[in-house]
Amino acid sequence: MRVEPPSDEAVTSSTDRKASGMTGKAYQVIVRGKFAPLDAGQRAALLARADEHDVFAARFTEEGTVTYERSLVAFTFRCVVRAPAEDAEDVVTGRAEALASAAVRGLGVDHGDLASVSTDLDSIKVRPRDADRKELRRRRAAVLPSGRHAWCMRLLVLGGTWFVGHAIVTAALDAGWEVTTFHRGTSAGTDLKGVRTVQGDRTKPADVAALTGTGPWDAVVDTSGYVPRNTLHVARALAPVADRYVFVSTVSVYRDWPRKPLSEDSAVLPCPPDAGPNHGTDTEDGPTRYGYQKSGCEAAAVAAFGPDRTTILRPGVVLGPREYVGRLPWWLRRVAAGGQVLAPGSPDRPIQPVDVRDLAAFTLRTVADGISDALNVCAPVGAATFGELLAACADVTGAAASFEWVPDDVLLGQGVRQWSELPLWRAYEGVWRVDATRARQAGLLYRPLSETVAGTWRWLTEAGETRIHDRAVEIGLSRDKEQRVLTVWEASGKRTG
Ligand SMILES: NC(=O)c1ccc[n+]([C@@H]2O[C@H](COP(=O)([O-])OP(=O)(O)OC[C@H]3O[C@@H](n4cnc5c(N)ncnc54)[C@H](OP(=O)(O)O)[C@@H]3O)[C@@H](O)[C@H]2O)c1
Repeated sequence: MRVEPPSDEAVTSSTDRKASGMTGKAYQVIVRGKFAPLDAGQRAALLARADEHDVFAARFTEEGTVTYERSLVAFTFRCVVRAPAEDAEDVVTGRAEALASAAVRGLGVDHGDLASVSTDLDSIKVRPRDADRKELRRRRAAVLPSGRHAWCMRLLVLGGTWFVGHAIVTAALDAGWEVTTFHRGTSAGTDLKGVRTVQGDRTKPADVAALTGTGPWDAVVDTSGYVPRNTLHVARALAPVADRYVFVSTVSVYRDWPRKPLSEDSAVLPCPPDAGPNHGTDTEDGPTRYGYQKSGCEAAAVAAFGPDRTTILRPGVVLGPREYVGRLPWWLRRVAAGGQVLAPGSPDRPIQPVDVRDLAAFTLRTVADGISDALNVCAPVGAATFGELLAACADVTGAAASFEWVPDDVLLGQGVRQWSELPLWRAYEGVWRVDATRARQAGLLYRPLSETVAGTWRWLTEAGETRIHDRAVEIGLSRDKEQRVLTVWEASGKRTG
């Protein structure tokens, strides 16, 4: 794929320079920019180009290299510019930016702010990192006096070492953002290279106060807020040093989940923003204390940052690599063991888990675009079925497994626990009927479920030993109980085929 160089005469091609006998210096310039709002066609075209190259970034042009992530938030353009020694740095970077602009327009899209860093290749001196940072800050301030900037956001993740937070950190680093994480350091997970870690406990006021001194940030993503009073304290402390608070919530905040189909307009569970950890109760077929508490945390985020600086993300079930709850890992391991596998309900039942990598990319998009809203984050209703999920498990594991689909009433009659003993199975009508149109309109992209299954299997089989999270022990049906239920089902005479 080749993108034509710009026609701008200010940009001198290497051929022209050779012809004119120009001598001078060579500069490596890195230009960063933000994609202008993209329509569905442009998104699809950019992703298709990335797919063509089988990487998450696309690379083209003889004049330079454009790279971008699947989140399609920002891009980076790298090139070498030759110029007479007397040319000032802004002349050199201006040329590079003209090349970048042309390259991006050549991809059929427009761009927002451009900002550059140049290095004189003839007299390479590696500048100390702090000086680099100072320079970047100076440029940032010069480009956007408001301080909001998409090409190199400063992100604070409250958490970041297990699953959802870890995926958000990974995506942000890939996008070239500066990432700080805040956690106690007690999890098995570790921080990725390039992350600045502030160690501390969010329930300890002194630790939170120390954290605020290490800002500022363009956005905070809170993946570890579970108690409203604590979220209120943390968010209030961070409000003066961060522009935006993204709270990772859940569909469990809805009063009618999992009984009825839902949209963002559905009622949420009432919970004050300063509620303590005991607010709310668990019921079998409806609200949970977790849902009440998360609803109170949402209110706390809005109370501290205000509605115009708060983003609420409400994922349904999140699957993908590093899924410590162990739902998809359990199915993968069970199917891999082969034989007759008890499968719940009907293969046609629609399911709509979101891949953690898609959730992460969308989180960055809400930050970059400054989206202040509450958004359900799920795959579309009907995008996949339970049958497709288990078929993908059989496919990726290469197992000799057959599936025996046992109706819900038989499973319930045999005391099979929904959601935990048979993960992802729940007999209520609203479980997988969460409308996420709003998020898709705001840029949520979702990958096929087979990719989520394959990525999780790869992680399980290649990552080596991983520590088992406390929540994973709730998951799974014993082989004895599975066999008992299958025997009852076979004896019922209701089996067809
Ligand atoms: N999994 C799903 O299907 C699903 C569905 C809907 C919503 N969600 C939401 O997604 C989020 C899950 O995120 P995750 O656990 O995967 O995120 P994560 O950010 O990858 O991991 C949790 C982090 O929180 C840190 N942490 C825990 N307690 C802390 C404390 N007292 N002080 C400071 N740091 C603390 C942990 O590190 P240390 O232990 O080292 O402190 C860890 O880094 C939750 O908000 C959940 O409600 C998940």
